[in-house]
Amino acid sequence: MEPVTRLGVVGCGLMGSGVAEVAALSGLDVRVAEISADATDAGRRRIAASLDRGVLRGKLTTHQRDQARARLTFTHDLGDLADRQVVIEAVAENRDIKTDVVRALDKTVEDAEAVLATNTSSIPIVDLAVATERPGRIIGLHFFNPVPVQQLVEIIPALTTSQETLRRTRALAEQLGKQPVQAPDRSGFVVNALLVPYLLGAVRMVESGSARPEDIDRGMELGRAHPMGPLRLLDLIGLDTAQAVAESMYEEFKEPLHAAPALLRRMVAAGHLGRKSGRGFYSYDA
Ligand code: 3HC
Repeated sequence: MEPVTRLGVVGCGLMGSGVAEVAALSGLDVRVAEISADATDAGRRRIAASLDRGVLRGKLTTHQRDQARARLTFTHDLGDLADRQVVIEAVAENRDIKTDVVRALDKTVEDAEAVLATNTSSIPIVDLAVATERPGRIIGLHFFNPVPVQQLVEIIPALTTSQETLRRTRALAEQLGKQPVQAPDRSGFVVNALLVPYLLGAVRMVESGSARPEDIDRGMELGRAHPMGPLRLLDLIGLDTAQAVAESMYEEFKEPLHAAPALLRRMVAAGHLGRKSGRGFYSYDA
């Protein structure tokens, strides 16, 4: 099995930019596709800033940063991903948008053996697979935020995924320096299945007025040695993403613990999305 050298990434937000950065640092030729010229520029700036931070913190040499930058190209035309061996989509956590993207990639990517991986957090992989003409080549590859830091990736084969696709995706995860675990194609996979009810439980505590965010977070940071408490973590993940994940899980299981609390919905409606909007359960400086 030849190693992957040409990777495509669709979407250059929080997750896509992290995936593209890690892949470029791992030596891959990475082409990043965004929806518009503006979004492409924002994505390029986001990755450049992260690489610069790596140099400032002494984690990367300027040579490593420059090499990674040289391996990255950006486009707002999905057609430019035609020659990719693997494409990872990391667009918004929305079933219709993701379905459109995998369908478009199915038509665009020329190599019929190429793997199309989705970074969905909660949408059934099989639903995306059967929207394409190559269901055997579709697989879940779920990264964790911040992608450059978190070691884990969940690999989620659908009922339709071929063994070859699974092998290739495992090999890619290792090429990226990540530690893969295989997860079932159930909404939430392994990690979010456990994490989401916990995060929503913390929102309900705030909503009911029974505890303050600071106390809940301190409780879990000091009492459970979590690197960040649940409300700080929600702010990192993005409240809109968390709501979308909770909704997919609720749709699948009809389990009240997965239902997004009204407070979460209201905060999303108000644009209080967490760190990325400057305000969530906490406020953040620009
Ligand atoms: N890019 C690269 N490196 C980063 C980074 C980023 N965006 N953010 C932090 N780091 C690095 C820092 O450089 C630092 O490295 P060093 O110790 O070698 O210098 C290290 O991470 C720690 O960073 P800080 O000192 O700035 O801050 P903290 O110690 O508070 O750590 C954190 C920040 C890494 C975010 C840590 O709090 C953490 O691990 N939090 C939990 C994150 C988590 O649980 N993520 C999973 C979310 S669930 C998910 O993504 C799934 C989705 O489907 C919802």
